[in-house]
Amino acid sequence: MDLDLRFPALSDLRKRAQHRIPHFAWEYLDSATGTESVKHLNRAALDGVRMLPAALDGEFTPDLTTPLLGQDHAAPFGIAPIGMSGLIWPGAEAALARLGAHRNIPYCLSTVATRLPEEIGPLAGDKGWFQLYPPRDPNIRTDLLKRAKAAGFRVLVLTVDVPAPSRRERQLRADLAFPPRKTPRMIMQTVLRPEWALRTLRMGVPRLRLMEEYKRLDGNAPSTGHAGYLLRVNPDWDYVAALRAGWDGPFVLKGILRPDDARRAIDAGVDAVWVSNHAGRQFDGAPASVDVLPDIRATVGPDYPLIADGGVESGLDILRMIARGANFVMLGRAWHYALAALGPKGAAHLDHILREDMIANMMQLGLVSPREAGLRLWPAKNVGEM
Ligand SMILES: Cc1cc2nc3c(=O)[nH]c(=O)nc-3n(C[C@H](O)[C@H](O)[C@H](O)COP(=O)(O)O)c2cc1C
Repeated sequence: MDLDLRFPALSDLRKRAQHRIPHFAWEYLDSATGTESVKHLNRAALDGVRMLPAALDGEFTPDLTTPLLGQDHAAPFGIAPIGMSGLIWPGAEAALARLGAHRNIPYCLSTVATRLPEEIGPLAGDKGWFQLYPPRDPNIRTDLLKRAKAAGFRVLVLTVDVPAPSRRERQLRADLAFPPRKTPRMIMQTVLRPEWALRTLRMGVPRLRLMEEYKRLDGNAPSTGHAGYLLRVNPDWDYVAALRAGWDGPFVLKGILRPDDARRAIDAGVDAVWVSNHAGRQFDGAPASVDVLPDIRATVGPDYPLIADGGVESGLDILRMIARGANFVMLGRAWHYALAALGPKGAAHLDHILREDMIANMMQLGLVSPREAGLRLWPAKNVGEM
């Protein structure tokens, strides 16, 4: 089957995904919080970034290779951390880690994954990043960092935009709990998706395995509730300093939208800032990530690495983020729509779509490297603002 003919764009994979996974898993993946205005804004703002194509540039070959945090990556995009990935598609963490290693793009494992760092780290090769939701107990923190390092994760990412749970009304309506409850409604939804159900049976009910291990060790953790949230603290700059001192390798802050926070991150020895509004899942009053990038770029200067995410669906979107000031772009939901649609070959197909779309658009724009995208912004005054 020629996947390009049947699934030429992410939207085709997304459509199929919805018919292959139970309603509660779909709601978990696809939802945001509040009226989901941020989710829609991310899309609208990306569409609003316009660039002028080039003419008469002669022959050239675009090259997607992009350096970041001491490595060359095959393209300027990677796989953002998604908690409970394995609920969306059984085996998701392993499939995406393998994809990262084979296609030479970063894969970031979430603290609240359904698989342990020891299982996933080796699959990601040297492309593994470990995302931390900050444990309250310093002993757990130290142990977690030690385990992530021993499992081969090269980059540590501290997520700072989840100070507390958000409402996520669609998830509430879908009766979603971790681990999933076996209510008649859920069982019915599962029966309607036999491939997902059989794979889940084979792999075991998705659980927050890492967090559950620590919950048993943490005497202070309340006995009921979501293991992930029970262990977390709302970090501060002292926490950032402690992590900086405790991690020998690149260290990233994820979930920054304010230029002053980005400035402070540089002063705290953070190696890259990840500009993100958490895909609209935390705060429905935030601006689009792509809209705050120019101010943050102006604050951190031309050379400091900025990673960005939020609503990216195509190679053109990746170029738009870069044009606005990002060095590197991550996608979250997209990989999971692709996995849910076609399994691991869906994720590989998405990697192909993104690269081909980047190259097609770079040809239109006369760009040899994605990092030149800012030169094509229209109106051009945006360049001066950056
Ligand atoms: C279902 C889901 C779960 C997520 N879980 C995490 C997580 O565990 N840790 C984290 O730092 N970010 C998490 N995020 C945010 C993503 O890492 C990323 O910032 C966001 O999905 C990017 O936007 P996009 O999905 O539009 O590409 C999650 C996002 C989604 C959609």
